Amino acid sequence: MSKAYSEEGQHDRWTSLNIWLHWTIVVLIAVQYLVTAGGMEKMWDAAKSGSNGSGGLFTLGNAHIAVGSLVLIAAIIRLWDRFAHGRPPHPDGAPNWAHLLAKITHVLLYTFLIAMPIGGLLGWFLNSEFFAEAHHTAAEVLIYVIALHVLGALANHFWFKTDALRNMMPGRGR
Ligand code: HEM
Ligand code: HEM
Repeated sequence: MSKAYSEEGQHDRWTSLNIWLHWTIVVLIAVQYLVTAGGMEKMWDAAKSGSNGSGGLFTLGNAHIAVGSLVLIAAIIRLWDRFAHGRPPHPDGAPNWAHLLAKITHVLLYTFLIAMPIGGLLGWFLNSEFFAEAHHTAAEVLIYVIALHVLGALANHFWFKTDALRNMMPGRGR
């Protein structure tokens, strides 16, 4: 029988799938920002000026599309897993305001993980300046959301001394 969705609590650990996808997405997003984004921008500019681009920038641009699409697939599977199997309770030790901030940040992260690749795909395949611009702006905002999230994870570990970060480590899944 399938388990009912639980926001918190039936299990004290994340699923292994969730942990695995979390860190896969971290790597994919790092690749997007640090490796492929420049090539994609150049390929986009080349396409707008009527050329197909070539060589390295063409490869990087296509890698950006492929890696970004993988993020979308991974995020959808992760959200499904999250709703199907719930999440562990927020570990004891952090104050209520920190739990609330964490929840808001998680909702924002999931929204970006879904909306960013869709915006990019619409921009590229519909040749839409509007979606490309929105994607560009979202890429700048997402950096701050990720920074807040990482600060939160580190604060949990070093300041509030909770198990939040430990629970997200590979090998800790159920
Ligand atoms: C979560 C996945 C993705 C992330 C994190 C991401 C990130 C980025 C970043 C950082 C830039 C450079 C923007 C800047 O200069 O600040 C960019 C540009 C761009 N990306 Fe993505 N991207 C993702 C997925 C995709 C996908 C799936 C496509 C599909 C084609 C795409 C299409 C584009 C286009 C067309 C641009 C150039 C837009 C412009 O500079 O105006 N992206 N992306
Ligand atoms: C691209 C960067 C990242 C993205 C997009 C991301 C995304 C997410 C998302 C969506 C969740 C939601 C959990 C839920 O379903 O409720 C989460 C949880 C978590 N992430 Fe990240 N994450 C990133 C980077 C990191 C990094 C670098 C760390 C460690 C320093 C980290 C540590 C955690 C921890 C500890 C949790 C569990 C929080 C809790 O128990 O409430 N994340 N992450």
